[in-house]
Amino acid sequence: MQQTQRRSRELESIAPFRRSPDVPERCDADVTGTVPSWLQGDLLRTCPAVFAQGSWQAQHWFDGLGQIYAFRIGASTVRFQSRLLDSEAAREIAGGRAKLSSFGTPTERSAWQRLLQPVQRSTDNTNVNIVQMGDEVVALTEGARQLRIDAASLRSLGVRPYGPDGLGGNVMSAHPHRDFARRKVVNLATSFGAGGGVVSVYEHDDRTHVRRVVGSWRTDRVPYLHSFGLTPTRAVLLAHPFAVRPRDMLWSNLGYIDHFEWRPQDGTRLIVMDRGSGATTEHEADAMFVFHTVNAFERDGETVLDALAYPDAAIMEDLRVARMAERLPDLRPKLVRITMRPGRPRADVQMLGDAAFEFPCIHYRRSSGSDYRYTWGAADGPRDEDGYASSIVKVDVRSGQSCAFSDGERIYGEPVFVARPGGVDEDDGVLLTVGCSQRTTGSALSILDARDMTLLARADVPASIPLGFHGSFIGEREQGGRP
Ligand SMILES: [Fe+2]
Repeated sequence: MQQTQRRSRELESIAPFRRSPDVPERCDADVTGTVPSWLQGDLLRTCPAVFAQGSWQAQHWFDGLGQIYAFRIGASTVRFQSRLLDSEAAREIAGGRAKLSSFGTPTERSAWQRLLQPVQRSTDNTNVNIVQMGDEVVALTEGARQLRIDAASLRSLGVRPYGPDGLGGNVMSAHPHRDFARRKVVNLATSFGAGGGVVSVYEHDDRTHVRRVVGSWRTDRVPYLHSFGLTPTRAVLLAHPFAVRPRDMLWSNLGYIDHFEWRPQDGTRLIVMDRGSGATTEHEADAMFVFHTVNAFERDGETVLDALAYPDAAIMEDLRVARMAERLPDLRPKLVRITMRPGRPRADVQMLGDAAFEFPCIHYRRSSGSDYRYTWGAADGPRDEDGYASSIVKVDVRSGQSCAFSDGERIYGEPVFVARPGGVDEDDGVLLTVGCSQRTTGSALSILDARDMTLLARADVPASIPLGFHGSFIGEREQGGRP
């Protein structure tokens, strides 16, 4: 216990996990270079920020208590603001008792509590993603609850209500899709029962709070589904063999992911669901492990899914606090294209170039669900005695060619693509990415030209912003990026 706590505190001294006190009032960033005049709006992001408090310590990166932050880009200024997420999970931990489930940290439930409630209540520590749904800004994690966030103050406004719709208590993905043509949010919800699990694809209008089940897939072993693919008529689930028998979760105090088992002999199942009828067809491929799908589309009756694939689920262990305090993980999945053809059980898997990166983004409004050319992401950079810098990579998925930006100092996270209003080309826009440095306590928002990956402008703030997962740009003129 003491060793884990020491490692949690060690982790908070490393740049990607170091945090400054809240900045609730907006402060001016120091801008160098030229911010495009058309780029006006808010980059909202969330990240795990607190890894130890009192007797509690996070054992997995994903369990750090969440922080919400904003870079507000105006006509002549960039302003910064941040606030720790007010959640039931954070209040419990502050009170010295962590009873809600978490990703890879055991809960502290008594035998009596376990008996009364065999399945852990899922966390509301929504530190994974923040998206716009209609007029609301919503913070997400992999759980049964999402939190509404006041976009101006970054305060939590409480749980986003749903239902009654039969999906109460289901674990929702933190990577919903948006169907712009039909003005729908589409997502996954998983229920765990003694006899197995049910993964449902559901949808709802931007502004409504009733989820309609599109279709369901039942399985004995439930895969860890972090994201999924969506085309105009199909949803695609990548059911890798990192899975759990739901009955193993009953009465348990283990972290959610600690119930999952890597079984490469089971291979990968690909579930293609018709969004009209809910009917599913299944294909198979060799074992792989995937956090993030990149895009999916239909081509001559085929279903194509691009994803970032690891050879196995070992990365999940590398993301534990004890490991990360000693060495930053190698986030080097490969971009693969999985093609599923009607009537053929075996899916075709081919690599698209040799770039290895995580946190993919695309020109979502234009390319999601259709054949496309470009993706961008965060890639490992050079490692030496002075530290480590990441790069932001651009991949042409048609040629496999890639190029990258790095300033040799900062560790950048997910790039967010913002299209230039009126732009014609798929890569006509900018990338917004936030980085921190081991050499300074400050952080920076860098704005890159998405075409040639040159640095257009950088907005430095004196705050340490931990490396996070996902976020959204909510623009004055560009609305509706990837949820
Ligand atoms: Fe993610």
